[in-house]
Order: sequence, then C-alpha cells, then structure tokens
Amino acid sequence: MDVRPLSPELAAPLEEFFRRVPDSDHNSFAEDVQRPGVVQSWLEQEGTHRACAVEGDRVVGYLAVLPLVGWSAHVGSLRVVVDPAARGQGVGRALARAGLLASLELGLTKTVVEVVVDAVPAIGMFEALGFEPEALLRDHVRDKSGELHDLVVLAHQVEGTWSAMATAGLEEALA
Ligand SMILES: CC(C)(COP(=O)(O)OP(=O)(O)OC[C@H]1O[C@@H](n2cnc3c(N)ncnc32)[C@H](O)[C@@H]1OP(=O)(O)O)[C@@H](O)C(=O)NCCC(=O)NCCS
Repeated sequence: MDVRPLSPELAAPLEEFFRRVPDSDHNSFAEDVQRPGVVQSWLEQEGTHRACAVEGDRVVGYLAVLPLVGWSAHVGSLRVVVDPAARGQGVGRALARAGLLASLELGLTKTVVEVVVDAVPAIGMFEALGFEPEALLRDHVRDKSGELHDLVVLAHQVEGTWSAMATAGLEEALA
C-alpha cells in the first residue's frame, strides 16, 4: 500500500472509491465528493493537500488537509476515510501520519479532526499520533435513522509537535 498525492491518474480510481464508500461514512468527507467534476477541480486547487492510499490499481483510502479561512487560517481540518474492506490493516494510521506531515508542510500550526464519540478506535488512532481531545459537541451529528451522536474535536498543536512526532516516529519522515 502506497500513500500518493492526488494526481490526474488517480482521479478515476478515487471517484470509484467515493462510489464504494457507504453513505454513513460520507459525513466524514465534509464535502460533496460525488458532485460531478469535483475531483477534477481539486487537481488545480492550491493550498490544500489531498492524497490516496493505493493498493494495485485501487484507491482504498483518502486523505484531505483543508486549511480553514480568516482568523483560523493557521488551522487545518484533517479528513481520513478508509474503504471498510481495508480497515484494521494500518491504512488509516498511514494516511493520518501523512496528513500531519502535509499540515506542517502547508505551514499550519494546528490540525483538527472531528470524530463521532462512538468511534473509539479512531479516537485512539489519532491520540497515538499526538492529537488530544479539545472539544465535545453534544448531539452534533444526526445519523440516517435520526439518532443523535456526540462529536469530539481532536487537535494537534505545533508546540507539542516534536514530542508527538517522536512518539509517532515522524521525525525520520521529516529529516
Ligand atoms: C478511522 C479510520 C480512518 C481508521 O482506519 P483503519 O485503516 O481501520 O485504521 P488502522 O488499521 O490504521 O488502525 C489504526 C489503529 O486504530 C485502531 N483501530 C482501527 N480500527 C479498529 C477496529 N475496527 N477495531 C479495533 N481497533 C481499531 C487500532 O488501535 C489501530 O491500532 P493497532 O495497529 O495498534 O491495532 C476508518 O475506520 C474510517 O475510515 N472510518 C470512517 C471515517 C472516519 O471516522 N474518519 C475519521 C474522521 S475524518
């Protein structure tokens, strides 16, 4: 499995991945990723980072680092979604690590990720990379059946970066 920045060759396999991901996980994209032409428009977009986890000719995971605007322009929003058939094999961790490195390269000093509180393994994955829970938004998510769920915002602050990177083994990647 390779993590590769989005490129023209990956556009069609990424669109196919978006069609394969169940509706329930589409909330994690925070964008309408199935809107016609949207992947093509990303190829010319500056200031964001998007990447794919690729196995053979298939995209099995997606990463986006989307900088916020205005007074939060120093903050990046991280999105990681893995094909349900490829979960539990380290793809999510590899994408999250790549997202953290991309955030630093974009000059962002804080990276946040939103996770539904019930997704305990996902929260553990981000904490292992140095993210810390920073806010709890009660009843912030309503699923298709109408049930409400709490959302946790985990943040990675640059002042904690070096110790967190040592924990996650990221310092080698930056050397
Ligand atoms: C969260 C998500 C990206 C994790 O992807 P993944 O490829 O399954 O994660 P990994 O295999 O890299 O697992 C990393 C760690 O998370 C934990 N984990 C992930 N899935 C798990 C599961 N089903 N059961 C138990 N632990 C799990 C493990 O602790 C694992 O560490 P380990 O290697 O020590 O066991 C994936 O479940 C997903 O796409 N979820 C829907 C979208 C989402 O919630 N994204 C996050 C917010 S944008």
